[in-house]
Amino acid sequence: MLYKLFIKPVFFLFNPESAHYVAMRLMQFSLVRWVMKQVCKTKSKPVQFAGLTFRNPIGLAAGFDKNASYILEMEALGFGFTEIGTVTPLPQPGNDKPRLFRLPKDEALINRMGFNNVGADVVGARLKNIRLQSSIIIGGNIGKNKITPNEKAVNDYVICFEKLFDVVDYFVVNVSSPNTPGLRDLQDKKPLTEILNELQVHNHQKENPKPILLKIAPDLTDAQLNDIIEIVNTTNIAGVIATNTTINRNNLQASKQTVDEIGNGGLSGKPVKQRSTEVIRYLNKKSGGKLFIIGVGGIQTAVDAKEKLEAGASLVQIYTGFIYEGPMMVKKIIREL
Ligand code: FNR
Repeated sequence: MLYKLFIKPVFFLFNPESAHYVAMRLMQFSLVRWVMKQVCKTKSKPVQFAGLTFRNPIGLAAGFDKNASYILEMEALGFGFTEIGTVTPLPQPGNDKPRLFRLPKDEALINRMGFNNVGADVVGARLKNIRLQSSIIIGGNIGKNKITPNEKAVNDYVICFEKLFDVVDYFVVNVSSPNTPGLRDLQDKKPLTEILNELQVHNHQKENPKPILLKIAPDLTDAQLNDIIEIVNTTNIAGVIATNTTINRNNLQASKQTVDEIGNGGLSGKPVKQRSTEVIRYLNKKSGGKLFIIGVGGIQTAVDAKEKLEAGASLVQIYTGFIYEGPMMVKKIIREL
């Protein structure tokens, strides 16, 4: 209530990227973090997966903490796990600003950030240090640099995998962002199988291999989703994260002019909720309930989270809902679940 009445209106006066930065800088003050930790304390039934214990099923989705700068802050807010990235081998600035836009009437965002991040070396070093202070489960979401052609994408994924292996608990192969030209073509059977097989070769050379998940777009057809199930089975990866942002612009409250002026990018939040749940339900049904799924897309309330869990997800993640609902949402959802 406090957030929606007083804090959000102030943040929403700033452009979205600056507001995000200011909000997170505030959270970095030890006193603020300590207070949030006391306020957001929750008890929940843990979720076990692949030898990992998630203290609750609500995670922070990728893109919010691209550079692993806010692990302790997210832990304080009550998240059961956090996913850093998308991280690329080399640092890159991402697309020109403005590249993040609010659609308040739709409780949505459109972004074309373009994998702005400090690169795998810096993120790896940062996580090594944070690991000494935090016990939260950390996922490493990895991608390719914009300058890397798709034919060589597999190398980028392997570089990130190796550089982050010791400091993350699970990996996510991101081939579903709409903001790196051609990236989504890697969702096709051949290149995707090659990337995942190669990562598994590296993974199985380790003493304790880590779960690898695949993050998919909500814009895939049923035939493509069938392919995804087959690829998960043949490459023997641990599961799927469904879904990333959509390029679809149907049924929005915002005017066509507003949406056209914003231009390209991935749409997230409430408008993607139904489609992402459909994808989860489809994958769950088609795989006979055998696929491990993390559900993400438009979750704002416990009802939304429950919908994803009932559709077949074992864990869920949130990004856009957090911007609209505020820092108490994790506790609220866990309490009501
Ligand atoms: C994202 N998302 C995202 N996903 C990913 O795998 N790598 C990334 O770098 C990003 N970056 C990113 C930036 C911004 C500004 C947004 C809003 C989203 C996608 C995100 O993790 C999630 O899959 C979707 O946003 C759908 O969930 P929500 O936002 O509706 O809860």
